[in-house]
Amino acid sequence: MQIGPYQFDGKVVLAPMAGVTDRPFRAVCRAVGATAVTAEMVTADTSLYASDKTVHRLNMQGEPGPRIVQIVGSDPQQMADAARANVDRGAHIVDINMGCPAKKVCKRAAGSALLADEALVGRILDAVVAAVEVPVTLKIRTGTSPEHRNAVTVARIAESAGVQSLAVHGRTRSERFAGEAEFDTIARVRDAIDIPLLANGDIQTPERAEFVLRHTGADAIMIGRAAQGDPWIFPRINQYLRTSQLPGAPSNAERAAVVVEHIGQIYAFYGEGRGVRIARKHIGWYSSAYRNAAAFRAEVNRMENAEEQLAAVARFFCDEAADPWSDEHQRMDVA
Ligand SMILES: Cc1cc2nc3c(=O)[nH]c(=O)nc-3n(C[C@H](O)[C@H](O)[C@H](O)COP(=O)(O)O)c2cc1C
Repeated sequence: MQIGPYQFDGKVVLAPMAGVTDRPFRAVCRAVGATAVTAEMVTADTSLYASDKTVHRLNMQGEPGPRIVQIVGSDPQQMADAARANVDRGAHIVDINMGCPAKKVCKRAAGSALLADEALVGRILDAVVAAVEVPVTLKIRTGTSPEHRNAVTVARIAESAGVQSLAVHGRTRSERFAGEAEFDTIARVRDAIDIPLLANGDIQTPERAEFVLRHTGADAIMIGRAAQGDPWIFPRINQYLRTSQLPGAPSNAERAAVVVEHIGQIYAFYGEGRGVRIARKHIGWYSSAYRNAAAFRAEVNRMENAEEQLAAVARFFCDEAADPWSDEHQRMDVA
């Protein structure tokens, strides 16, 4: 897949997830084999860029390229200014969010609410593409509701505006995260445009990844929730797509090394106080398939001190988890 000057060798990309795909998690996913990683969305209102939360979201220090940022907003001029501000801060690709169903975003008619106003979609894309030299990409849902699936029209608008790749989550805005993603609309989008296409939604196994690529004709897939606590989904799918064979699960030592490194990076990035709180959810995801997960999570959630939390993590993943897998996870690995 080629996006502007950037050549991507694999087909499995980390989806942007606010509150999840921060710099430490992006580094983990890259290290184990994600083809590309996308940062958490940031508002197009650059007057908020000094807030502590946004400062961390915008932080790409030391990250290898291509660095993909995502902006969300509804005013074409403001979006153009935000794109420029992000390029000035080191973004290599600017992604536009027209997929988010969250209330906070949609109240201001941004994210997927924009799909209801195709003329405004066009104005935003034209303004952002004109504002920056770097590739502009777009992420959408299949429409605003099952009765109004206009992804094909929006895809054509995007391509003619000069957008250089399109990611489509196979749900409409009104469906939020309910039901199952569908891929027929994404296949129709493939027929309508020539720019690189990424298919997204509910891809949790290598077999599903292979099916979605085949069914949609997409150039790549995007993985969101299935990567939480399981970044190894990237090498698992990579290997399956290359060889049609499922790789063995990583050893306990390999898992433990990744988890400990990730948690350490979280402390380094956010500082101890915030880091300990943010680490809890990742530790919860990493440990969710282990037999003693509930007791371990309760223990970790009581801890306020980074040293103590990291020691507990190291102990759990190195020792107690020596015989780790619940039947459920084993099924996931081999299914
Ligand atoms: C916690 C969370 C945060 C998300 N944040 C964003 C975001 O910032 N930008 C965006 O375009 N999509 C966001 N999404 C949507 C995901 O990128 C993806 O489209 C969706 O989760 C479906 O893919 P999945 O089934 O692989 O998770 C978010 C999803 C989740 C679960």
